[in-house]
Amino acid sequence: MNAQIRKAVFPVAGMGTRFLPATKANPKEMLPIVDKPLIQYAVEEAVAAGVTELIFVTSSSKRAIEDHFDRNFELEYELEQRGKQQLLEIVHDILPKGVSSVYIRQPEALGLGHAVLCAKTVVGDDPFAVILADDLIDGGGQGCLAQMVAQFDEQGCSLLGVQTVDPKETEKYGIVSVQPQGERLDRVQAIVEKPKSSEAPSNLGVVGRYILTAGIFQQLEQTPRGAGGEIQLTDAIALLLEHEPVMSYRFAGTRYDCGSKLGYLQATVEYALKHAELKADFLRYLKGYCLPEKA
Ligand code: G1P
Repeated sequence: MNAQIRKAVFPVAGMGTRFLPATKANPKEMLPIVDKPLIQYAVEEAVAAGVTELIFVTSSSKRAIEDHFDRNFELEYELEQRGKQQLLEIVHDILPKGVSSVYIRQPEALGLGHAVLCAKTVVGDDPFAVILADDLIDGGGQGCLAQMVAQFDEQGCSLLGVQTVDPKETEKYGIVSVQPQGERLDRVQAIVEKPKSSEAPSNLGVVGRYILTAGIFQQLEQTPRGAGGEIQLTDAIALLLEHEPVMSYRFAGTRYDCGSKLGYLQATVEYALKHAELKADFLRYLKGYCLPEKA
């Protein structure tokens, strides 16, 4: 396990308008995929990569995230009284020992770059990860962030998790142009936030996983408002490129865009089909629903 990436920033201040009214009073990061909220998948991926300090950048109406990762003594007592040992362990062990959390409020909704900048004093000089919980990534054997941390150990520079995206959908992503370096690794030459397909330098999109050096903070402080009038992390990475090398890594695994309803439903179906307790019954149901036997 690596010795370096111990901190991960989870920007969770966004409004989640695409899921209204479900997200009117509940954070979008608390939407469940089968029985676990999106933010817990993201945290588990970080912890599996060696992260021990979780830094959540929150806003009002995100209290449920704080509560989720805190102890709930009343619930634990009730489960214990009823002899529900397995459930007790599930709620008790949400965060493994030695993992701590910090919550920082983003005072204004000024974008992803601004959210990351809010974590500056807590991150300090260490390289750190940024995880966007609505990009759910099933890395198979090794989680996406763990794969990236292994690369970071070798490269020692900022690293962006990327995948090829539909050329018609470049407007949804930070898009990189790259120079090939290795099997899955490329050196980033330029990065642009949400370009039109006609202007995109490639169809390699950044999907919610970043390992960044602390040099990004200096760039974020100078980044003017960009796409959507927000301070974009992508724009700060473009500035960082002028000072430091930045790599992109085509991770192994499947990514679900759980910020969209379709991606969320795809993740729900596929995770249900892998869920130990559910998979057999759910598969039977799905087959019956999609291929009803002719009477
Ligand atoms: C953000 C980033 C974008 C990145 C995307 C990945 O956009 O700004 O560069 O490609 O996440 O999901 P958002 O989806 O928050 O609009």
